[in-house]
Amino acid sequence: MSELGESARSVWSGQAVAYAESFAAVCAYPIGDLLDAVGAGPGVRLLDVGTGSGNVAADAFARSARVSAVDADPGMVELAAKAVPSAEVGVAELPVLPFADDAFDAVTANFVLDHVGRPRRSLAELGRVTRPGGRIAVTMWAVPGGAGRALLGRAIEAAGVQHKIHRPVMASEADFPRTEQGLVDLLRAAGISKPSCRTIAWDHQTSAQGWWHGAESGVGFIGHLVATQPPETRAEIKRHFDLLSAEFTGPDGRLALPHRALLASGTAEA
Ligand SMILES: C[S@@+](CC[C@H](N)C(=O)[O-])C[C@H]1O[C@@H](n2cnc3c(N)ncnc32)[C@H](O)[C@@H]1O
Repeated sequence: MSELGESARSVWSGQAVAYAESFAAVCAYPIGDLLDAVGAGPGVRLLDVGTGSGNVAADAFARSARVSAVDADPGMVELAAKAVPSAEVGVAELPVLPFADDAFDAVTANFVLDHVGRPRRSLAELGRVTRPGGRIAVTMWAVPGGAGRALLGRAIEAAGVQHKIHRPVMASEADFPRTEQGLVDLLRAAGISKPSCRTIAWDHQTSAQGWWHGAESGVGFIGHLVATQPPETRAEIKRHFDLLSAEFTGPDGRLALPHRALLASGTAEA
């Protein structure tokens, strides 16, 4: 397994409940478009990979799809199984899925490719388990991202912590531009036909307290970095977070955090 894959696994381990209570909401925004892109509907055999607390799986189930879901982290699997009791839910870690070739009509992965060390190999695996003509759709964070997504990173840097060097680096031969063209090219290289990609932008509405809660609980790479600082450094990051949050605070006292994501989809080949 690559360095990023191992690191991603340790970052998510034990974070399921904190994720469900915090950053899951920002990842939920593109779910409707993601499910439309794979034609999720009655009877469609749909696999959601990296399902987290199960939001995509639950919405697919609400569309009467026949849902399976997997995640690398057992805590996430436990939550997803509760969210969608009738779904088949299990532990599996990209780039390897424990399913036969052509097992599904549709496969989704919402903000999961950001965390895998071998994205092309992982996409090829999504394609392998999708029947010829079936649909695959993925999201990931765009680079450059929205200003709201940068908020915590700015607070960390303002507190004097070099956050970029703490983020695991993907092997250069596996990396790709986080742009519409970059993701289209990656899907094509993974053997997924008719790839397309568009950018989705939205303002995530949350409270400053809720956004900070996700970070201090250690959710994701950025939260992991916050939570592993000494208490005085954490306090300094929080002080800068409070100052910088003012830029995004509306008259109602809530934050509107701009985010940008890439939504890519394509068709499995025979
Ligand atoms: C940002 S969360 C997204 C969760 C979910 N898709 C959603 O929309 O809420 C990323 C998820 O990917 C999972 N993950 C990370 N690396 C993975 C891998 N190699 N294979 C499968 N899941 C992975 C994490 O455990 C986590 O649940």
